[in-house]
Amino acid sequence: MSKPLVSIVMGSSNDWEIMQQAARALQDFGVEFDARVISAHRSPDLLFDYIKEMSGQGVQCFIAGAGGAAHLAGVIAGKTTLPVLGVPIPSKYLKGMDSLLSIVQMPKGIPVATFAIGEAGAANAGLFAVSMLALNDQQLADKLVDYRKKQAEQIAATTLPTLS
Ligand code: RP5
Repeated sequence: MSKPLVSIVMGSSNDWEIMQQAARALQDFGVEFDARVISAHRSPDLLFDYIKEMSGQGVQCFIAGAGGAAHLAGVIAGKTTLPVLGVPIPSKYLKGMDSLLSIVQMPKGIPVATFAIGEAGAANAGLFAVSMLALNDQQLADKLVDYRKKQAEQIAATTLPTLS
């Protein structure tokens, strides 16, 4: 197995249900990734070690999923200049609005690219990582064009039921 190009980090194993969408997108495009549960507040030292380890191994970006007071993506962005893609995980009481605002409202200077709450955001973060990697990989770029073409064909082939 070759070295991972993308690192997926999430604050809890409960986030995997959502974050596996990012993993699936990468897998579908044949992009090697590493996926880990590491919490910014429960295991900060482990997180710092992991960021260093992954950066040293040639990872090109981090995808971070967290819920609630979701500081995981921001903390990773504070420790690396690699692009960080944040995915707000739906939370029990505020339905992920807390996660979204925590991730999207990064103060000026340390950017985090923030995606939609939930599955769509996780899948799009994976696809966005593919787009970034495709800048230097023609095969990946071609696969993305095919992927978009299939979506367009599906829409074009969609018919609505007739009214009764
Ligand atoms: C965050 O707290 C995690 O990202 C998770 O979404 C949220 C709740 O964690 P659990 O109580 O489900 O482990 O750190």
